[in-house]
Amino acid sequence: MADFKEISADAPMADKALNWIDNRFPLSKLYKEHLSEYYAPKNFNFFYFFGSLALFVLVIQILTGIFLVMHYKPDASVAFASVEYIMRDVPWGWLIRYMHSTGASAFFIVVYLHMFRGLIYGSFRKPRELVWLFGCAIFLALMAEAFMGYLLPWGQMSYWGAQVIVNLFSAIPFIGPDLALLIRGDYVVGDATLNRFFSFHVIAVPLVLLGLVVAHIIALHEVGSNNPDGVEIKAHKDAQGRPLDGIPFHPYYTVHDIVGVTGFLLVFCAIIFFAPEFGGYFLEYNNFIPADPLKTPAHIAPVWYFTPYYSMLRAITSEMMYALIACVLAAAYLGATKAKLNSTFKGVVVGAAVVAVALMLAIDAKFWGVVVMGGAVVILFFLPWLDRCAVKSIRFRPDWHVYLYAIFVVNFFVLGYLGMQPPSAIGERVSQIGTLFYFGFFLLMPWWSTLGETKPVPDRVNFVAH
Ligand code: HEM
Repeated sequence: MADFKEISADAPMADKALNWIDNRFPLSKLYKEHLSEYYAPKNFNFFYFFGSLALFVLVIQILTGIFLVMHYKPDASVAFASVEYIMRDVPWGWLIRYMHSTGASAFFIVVYLHMFRGLIYGSFRKPRELVWLFGCAIFLALMAEAFMGYLLPWGQMSYWGAQVIVNLFSAIPFIGPDLALLIRGDYVVGDATLNRFFSFHVIAVPLVLLGLVVAHIIALHEVGSNNPDGVEIKAHKDAQGRPLDGIPFHPYYTVHDIVGVTGFLLVFCAIIFFAPEFGGYFLEYNNFIPADPLKTPAHIAPVWYFTPYYSMLRAITSEMMYALIACVLAAAYLGATKAKLNSTFKGVVVGAAVVAVALMLAIDAKFWGVVVMGGAVVILFFLPWLDRCAVKSIRFRPDWHVYLYAIFVVNFFVLGYLGMQPPSAIGERVSQIGTLFYFGFFLLMPWWSTLGETKPVPDRVNFVAH
């Protein structure tokens, strides 16, 4: 009983109850550390809504998911009908289902904007590398969650989308066919696949996701938030050790985030009530047809949030392999001639390039498409070490960096658009250029991010009262 804090016998009941808890669980301590005494920069802008919105959507998905599972049946013979039953017969079932299906797209919109904020303000840079790495892991988990959830309504797109994506794994040399079999649990997508995807979608991946989100926020609160100026507020503190440019998260940002949640709900509800399918982007029309293993739809495309990566997958044709080989050779040449490496390392670079080119010639382009698609996400993990600019925030970078980031965004949209379209000769060429630009943006970042004149970074954050 040594460290128990005593409280006056006359104290109000609520204080006594809190003291009882605090002596057994660090409730007040956690509240202070993460809310009332967590000092966040006072210059947060619009982009800083999306972290709390991502949390909000996560809660919506979990709550609506719980109610969907009460009526959904993970059995290939009745899954489609059970979703129709939810939509037509279960009281408010249509609302719960539309909240969940629109929530999936909303999740990606919010998370893409959240990541974009990190990119433009350099939030991934020291000391927030781990915050970013947890974020990238969250993104991967989210993709897995969405992919497996999409199979559950057992519509034509659910079925054939899963068939196409799982078949991709069979392109991996040696282990591929067995791996695809393991994922499916059968030789084609079937009841076994539906059952295991259901199990992963409702419990395994959400648990991982929740754990990662907790780790993400703990890591952020350990180092403190970045801000649109990319200035470290901890560099200037008052006599009590509080950052001069920081304000307590609660009540200032809790109230601020309520504004964000309200704006989000306006848009979210408008979509749910007036356009839940969102023109076939949030719920594809083909998915209102029950899965038919004997009838392949004319055009199979994933949901919009996967299409930029799908485009990159389709861009890797056997012709494109020559362009990739040329890139590897050019990189090896630059490494061997321009980089300050000793002769042993130069030998290693040349050797690695020779092995890479031999593999690229020997293995089918389909496999390299899978590598490129996966690489497009994996490369994000390396961002903290690719960016070498002297300043963090886009606000103080050379103007042309802004244009480069803008082209990056436009390119991502173009890839996304092309991924939704049926294959065409011109689409293929544009997606190949887009894929090269996407990778060039990241792989050449250590070089281009150091170029140009940066603007002077202020000592303290810019803050305009409003
Ligand atoms: C379920 C998904 C996610 C949730 C719930 C979430 C939640 C949050 C929250 C609440 C914050 C603090 C508020 C803010 O700065 O906006 C934050 C910050 C941050 N998140 Fe996420 N996040 C998610 C996904 C991601 C992803 C996918 C990435 C990047 C790959 C990422 C990178 C970051 C970074 C770098 C910060 C620090 C930003 C700064 O201080 O400027 N997050 N996140």
